Amino acid sequence: MIHPLVLGIETSCDDTACAVLDGAGRVLSSVVSSQLAAHRPYGGVVPEIASREHLANWTAVSEEALARAGVRLRDIEVVAATRGPGLVGALLVGLSIGKAIAFAGERPFHAIHHLEGHLYSPFLRAPGDPEAPALPPDRFAGLVLSGGHSSLFAVTDGAVSTLAETRDDAIGEVFDKVGKRLGLPYPQGPRVDELAEQGTPSARRFPVSRFGDTLDFSYSGLKSQALQEIERLERTLGPIDLGATEEVPQPVLDLLAAFRESAVGQVLERLDRLHERRPFDLLAVSGGAAANRLLRGRLPAWAEAHGVDLRLVPLVYSGDNAAMIANAALLRHRRGLQDDPFAAEAESRIPL
Ligand code: KG4
Ligand code: ZN
Repeated sequence: MIHPLVLGIETSCDDTACAVLDGAGRVLSSVVSSQLAAHRPYGGVVPEIASREHLANWTAVSEEALARAGVRLRDIEVVAATRGPGLVGALLVGLSIGKAIAFAGERPFHAIHHLEGHLYSPFLRAPGDPEAPALPPDRFAGLVLSGGHSSLFAVTDGAVSTLAETRDDAIGEVFDKVGKRLGLPYPQGPRVDELAEQGTPSARRFPVSRFGDTLDFSYSGLKSQALQEIERLERTLGPIDLGATEEVPQPVLDLLAAFRESAVGQVLERLDRLHERRPFDLLAVSGGAAANRLLRGRLPAWAEAHGVDLRLVPLVYSGDNAAMIANAALLRHRRGLQDDPFAAEAESRIPL
């Protein structure tokens, strides 16, 4: 086993996660405890419930992560926790635990930006894979698609600059909102993706939002169009509640397919623009919405046509997890960086 052993902690939203990485970046364990059942009755994440659940789940989650890695807490040599962005009460749980472990064990501490975790996650290998992951290259383009972000980054020698953000909703967020309007339980994104597979996207058309010639994303227009179309469908089909039925009418499936086509089309369109303006050789794609089937199907062809090396995050690390937080910390540790556990603060909104 290569040192240092890194403990990662992630509690920024509704997943309580703990992971152990070795010094070569191999994932020795990655445990994620979802709070879905606790939030489901409310149709979305309730911040107060998230904080309480993190506290309640931490002991079991961390004990399992250490046991699966075959190490004890005292073997851990570097400690990392997410500092934001996210729900402050939820972040505080993991961040405080991380600070306490680092302080008590006199270990170096890293307060990690959640998006930095996602950004480097395509370079992780699946748990138990004996191969050490390749180091991220000095220069690459990063695309992070999640419930809170649709962002493009340029990474140069470990320095990250933001090239584009969303002007309004994030891509995962509109999948959730459209699914919620149809009565699907939280999180709606994966289910909308699944249903879209059964529809014909050409049955109707949602234009790809161009938003001038900016690299920024914009999803609120598509969201409004989809919601209007649902309302129009309901005038002929009657109220649609997919939470209450197994039978999904074909026009609804077609609508979801067209919605997904436009959402993914926008991602590829922004990649076209970016590659035209500042060509890149490697693209790392991550975040919860990077699990999208259509996107995963289309990206390899896009990359090949543009001569770009594609790193798609392994599905196990697309959603929130602590392996990506430990991984980002390891990269910082190797550059000789660390954070003062007394100075690190949880913050809901912070630029990368
Ligand atoms: O990265 P993540 O786990 O949490 C955030 O940092 O936001 O991303 C969660 C988001 C949710 O909005 C979820 O609906 C979306 O990713 N998502 C998907 C798919 N799987 C998860 N969106 C579209 N297609 C999917 N297959
Ligand atoms: Zn995330």
